[in-house]
Amino acid sequence: VMNITYYGHSCFGVEINGKHLLFDPFITPNELAKNIDATTVKADYILISHGHEDHIADAVSIAKRTNALVVCNWEIYVWLKNKGVENIHPMNTGGKKAFDFGSIKCVKAEHSSSMPDGTYGGNPMGFVIESTDKNFYYAGDTALTYDMKLIGNYRKIDFAFLPIGDNFTMGVDNAIICCKDFINCGDVIGMHYDTFGFIKIDQEEAKHKFSTQGKQLTLLQIGETISK
Ligand code: NI
Ligand code: MN
Repeated sequence: VMNITYYGHSCFGVEINGKHLLFDPFITPNELAKNIDATTVKADYILISHGHEDHIADAVSIAKRTNALVVCNWEIYVWLKNKGVENIHPMNTGGKKAFDFGSIKCVKAEHSSSMPDGTYGGNPMGFVIESTDKNFYYAGDTALTYDMKLIGNYRKIDFAFLPIGDNFTMGVDNAIICCKDFINCGDVIGMHYDTFGFIKIDQEEAKHKFSTQGKQLTLLQIGETISK
């Protein structure tokens, strides 16, 4: 069983085999997540999809407090080193690495990436997490891209975290195409919606669109934990 906790925007904690993975920590600047105390969020691993502020804002402070192993691309590795973060494992698109909870494979995300201070952030990524329990796909910020077909061919994806807010990433309609035609997954947890004006969605309409295609879209309350 995996326990999944939503911290708002694209930030999730996923507990796998007793280890806590934290994805794209963006908590303290997020008005919608003001009830989340970033100083108590657990992490053994912090995975960062790309360098944009809304994915990395709390990475340095949580990494230093928890001494979690940060997994990110080479450019973000260098940037975090310069901020005094010491426990970092650099990877890049296409690479896979086994850790004690399971493995991480870095996959393509069609987006951009720069650091909050404007320095170059390398290429954005998504992650395929494999474990003895389940496999899942965390897409990061991405457009619908035909490369997602490779993910569906590569592994059985039990569930997926997909951006659905449109404007900066794919929206609901393209996320449905991703599920149906590319990654062959019927169980989606939505992310990257409602945080800013640009990405406000109609949540009921989004869920309805998925259900009419035989797919399930779960939109978690911030602070909510579910098990899969
Ligand atoms: Ni972004
Ligand atoms: Mn973003």
